[in-house]
Amino acid sequence: MRIGTLSLSSLCLLAVYVLDVVCAGRDFYKILGVSRSASVKEIKKAYRKLALQLHPDRNPDDPQAQEKFQDLGAAYEVLSDEEKRKQYDAYGEEGLKDGHQSSHGDIFSHFFGDFGFMFGGNPRQQDRNIPRGSDIIIDLEVTLEEVYSGNFVEVVRNKPVARQAPGKRKCNCRQEMRTTQLGPGRFQMTQEVVCDECPNVKLVNEERTLEVEIEPGVRDGMEYPFIGEGEPHIDGEPGDLRFRIKVLKHPLFERRGDDLYTNVTISLVEALVGFEMDITHLDGHKVHVMRDKITKPGAKLWKKGEGLPNFDNNNIKGSLIITFDVDFPKEQLTEEQKNGVKQLLKHGSVQKVYNGLQGY
Ligand SMILES: *[C@@H]1O[C@H](CO)[C@@H](O)[C@H](O)[C@H]1NC(C)=O
Repeated sequence: MRIGTLSLSSLCLLAVYVLDVVCAGRDFYKILGVSRSASVKEIKKAYRKLALQLHPDRNPDDPQAQEKFQDLGAAYEVLSDEEKRKQYDAYGEEGLKDGHQSSHGDIFSHFFGDFGFMFGGNPRQQDRNIPRGSDIIIDLEVTLEEVYSGNFVEVVRNKPVARQAPGKRKCNCRQEMRTTQLGPGRFQMTQEVVCDECPNVKLVNEERTLEVEIEPGVRDGMEYPFIGEGEPHIDGEPGDLRFRIKVLKHPLFERRGDDLYTNVTISLVEALVGFEMDITHLDGHKVHVMRDKITKPGAKLWKKGEGLPNFDNNNIKGSLIITFDVDFPKEQLTEEQKNGVKQLLKHGSVQKVYNGLQGY
């Protein structure tokens, strides 16, 4: 009886497995580790993260590294394209047979630049003799909303790339010393320029789209490098392109580390009797504020977890610190109102003189 159940269930498992392979093709959602309802932003984020982890250069000991990396590229290519994703959702991978063949290297370079990835030190720096084009640093202005929620920014770059051209050209030119013997004990040393012959190249402008991730909690001045996307060098390698994050000022919130500061003006009456309000946060969610006690001018309210996500661990969030100031009535009070207030508050004269700068 027991054996019967066992073999039946393993048979089922086998059937499910075979069906999976034959009918469904690869599960792109699973490969990217996202839900079927994931947004394009989530898909880009998952791709960018996994591409770093799964890049074959980083996994030299894994014989399946190449395959995993290709699967990831295919998954991204399909799910990041609205049309292909629809087809895939309806018919699986079979439904896409044609039109998803762009190379994974292409996709990868949109996120990281041309020269693939250089793990553990930069191998390009080992050979100091190879000339290099200059690096380009571009300020990328981001809003505080983007720092809060994260975003992907597409940057179209017109980049001059070297393409083969007919003919030869002189290259790798260098200065060499040449010694000629003029007679016994007499030498002449001359310096001359020696060059190699290389295939000719010309620079052609190529347009390409780069995907810059603005990671949640990114700090001002952080740089996102795109390897090999900088200035080209006709005899060597191109430099890098680096996007430097520049966080724009925000009219409502000020950033200090992971904390956000904001100020709220309330009326004198609200300061005395309490109030309730909502502050609209950077992603549109409401932060509820309620006071039933007296709120003094300059009072601060801390909302834990309502600050910015920490860059290194997005699950940790800073605080939102709300500082209140009190708007006093602009109209002068009549004698009658003055008496009314006195009656109401029963707060006699205080009139204490003290050195406030020293905090007495
Ligand atoms: C706004 O809040 C900050 C931070 O608590 C405080 O230093 C500043 O004085 C406040 N500004 C006004 C106008 O009250």
